Amino acid sequence: MEPTAETAPETRPEPAIRLRRAMPDDAEVIHGWRTEPSAPRYQPLLPMTVADLRSLLAETANVPLDSHFAGPARWLVEANRQPVGTISLTVESREHGLGTIGYGIGERHRGKDYAVAALRALLPLAFSPDGANLWRLEAVAAVENVASHRVLERCGFQLEGTARSYFLIGGRRVDHARYALLRDDWEQTRATERHRAEPARP
Ligand SMILES: CC(C)(COP(=O)(O)OP(=O)(O)OC[C@H]1O[C@@H](n2cnc3c(N)ncnc32)[C@H](O)[C@@H]1OP(=O)(O)O)[C@@H](O)C(=O)NCCC(=O)NCCS
Repeated sequence: MEPTAETAPETRPEPAIRLRRAMPDDAEVIHGWRTEPSAPRYQPLLPMTVADLRSLLAETANVPLDSHFAGPARWLVEANRQPVGTISLTVESREHGLGTIGYGIGERHRGKDYAVAALRALLPLAFSPDGANLWRLEAVAAVENVASHRVLERCGFQLEGTARSYFLIGGRRVDHARYALLRDDWEQTRATERHRAEPARP
């Protein structure tokens, strides 16, 4: 069905952000976010030193994002030319066009729609045939991580169920909401947005 202004989801102005591939020199700022008090609340974070992160980023910084990309790749989210967070894409199965995403925004930059804007900017890179050419993107978020649920929902991800006791976080097994977005869903959303952006006809 052709979307109409009545059926289209509500949108609000999005902050201007830029994604750029994370480089070894970004290890320090990323380490800073990973060690903030709230970082391990809802996600299992392997302890990593700045040096560990630097070598990890060196491995992934220049991997080309194309139909052979097997991930992971990580981007810095920048707003007003300042780093505010990271977002990553991992290919779980090239054969099935299946990928997973992860993201985090530094504590003092939260609540400004940066995560939503970053994920929206990642979608064309993940789905486009000129990008990673994936078909299905999955994400899990701890059931209590309401902010992350909202990020996914606002980007069109659909809730598919609950993965019970999915991750061990801070010594406790935590249920996770499972979300997914298909390339078809994303293309449909883009069609809706284009339709809404068109000037109304008399
Ligand atoms: C989850 C996270 C990335 C959200 O980043 P953010 O930039 O603050 O998110 P946004 O500003 O784009 O907000 C997205 C939505 O979350 C809501 N939100 C933000 N903080 C919230 C909170 N503490 N409780 C409930 N909702 C919250 C916002 O109101 C918005 O929802 P709305 O559209 O209904 O208004 C950020 O909180 C974070 O980095 N957390 C730690 C790492 C993490 O949990 N990563 C995700 C693992 S699955």
